Amino acid sequence: ATIDKLFQPVQDKVDDTGNKVTVVGVGQVGMAAVFSLLTQGVTNNIAMVDVMADKLKGEMMDLQHGSAFMRNAKIQASTDYSISADSKLCIVTAGVRQREGESRLDLVQRNTDVLKIIIPQLVKYSPDAIFIIASNPVDILTYVTWKISGLPKHRVIGSGTNLDSARFRYLLSEKLGIATTSTHGYIIGEHGDSSVPVWSGVNIAGVRLSDLNPKIGSESDPENWKETHEMVVKSAYEVIKLKGYTSWAIGLSLSQLARAILSNVNSVHAVSTYLKGEHGIEEEVFLSLPCVLGSAGVCDVIRQPLTESETAQLRKSAQLMAQVQAGINF
Ligand code: NAD
Ligand code: LAC
Repeated sequence: ATIDKLFQPVQDKVDDTGNKVTVVGVGQVGMAAVFSLLTQGVTNNIAMVDVMADKLKGEMMDLQHGSAFMRNAKIQASTDYSISADSKLCIVTAGVRQREGESRLDLVQRNTDVLKIIIPQLVKYSPDAIFIIASNPVDILTYVTWKISGLPKHRVIGSGTNLDSARFRYLLSEKLGIATTSTHGYIIGEHGDSSVPVWSGVNIAGVRLSDLNPKIGSESDPENWKETHEMVVKSAYEVIKLKGYTSWAIGLSLSQLARAILSNVNSVHAVSTYLKGEHGIEEEVFLSLPCVLGSAGVCDVIRQPLTESETAQLRKSAQLMAQVQAGINF
């Protein structure tokens, strides 16, 4: 045969790229994540899982047809979780999304039921993987994943307010007329409605805006900077109203988090992590704080100095999360 004429066999090939990522859910968020991961060179080995076999195969084929334009990508997909075996990272984007008028918390039981199916399968085939959850309500579902999986807390991460922080930095940068990448600041706490902007840390080249305007972000700020945070909270609702879903920004956010883990970068990102004991929080909840991310997952939580009001808001979010968690049917 032609193949035998072409090749002189020397040694069997190894089937491991060392950076395999499984993405569960090939909807808007999953596919935006996969496209960012592949085109930004974060991984060249993707496995996709979904329950919709035709959609899954179609997405796989469409991406494979782009192979000549990518960097030696291996793209696989199946409704069977064996395809996910030996992943370094599993990203979960499966489940229902909000319709207009629904909040993220409205999705909790429906998406918990989805995770009850998905998580044990992923753990079975990739017992050493790091898990990133994006499905909403993301903080609660990260807690649910931690509970179902039995994994140590440093390996279960929610995409959290990495996205809210990016939206915040974009809106601030527009107001200041400089690049988003030169505008620094964090939103912590719940992804979405009760998120907390840390105004005391917002800075450009180390110049803190709170030193220039001590009332920044407060009710009594004559410049009304708090409006920028309100716009962040409204962002998703506005985009959902306009295009039906959000996808590109969360896809890019997930790709950044994946790079931190797969390349063992030790970079700092606001992600949802186990919080009991931080900032006086007494509940077992997952909320976002700036975390050091490397190949072990969450390596450190940054001890950010918070004002009394920021701490109080964070604790209130924690109480809300605990209350919702208590009503979940596991
Ligand atoms: P989508 O409807 O486009 O896609 C969801 C996919 O999940 C579908 O392909 C569906 O078949 C699949 N799915 C459902 N049940 C499954 C199961 N048991 N096993 C495997 N796959 C299953 O939705 P989307 O717009 O991609 O949003 C997905 C989730 O991400 C929603 O919960 C949404 O709220 C959330 N989201 C989170 C963020 C964030 O910042 N964390 C941002 C945007 C969206
Ligand atoms: C977001 C989703 C809907 O884009 O959580 O914020």
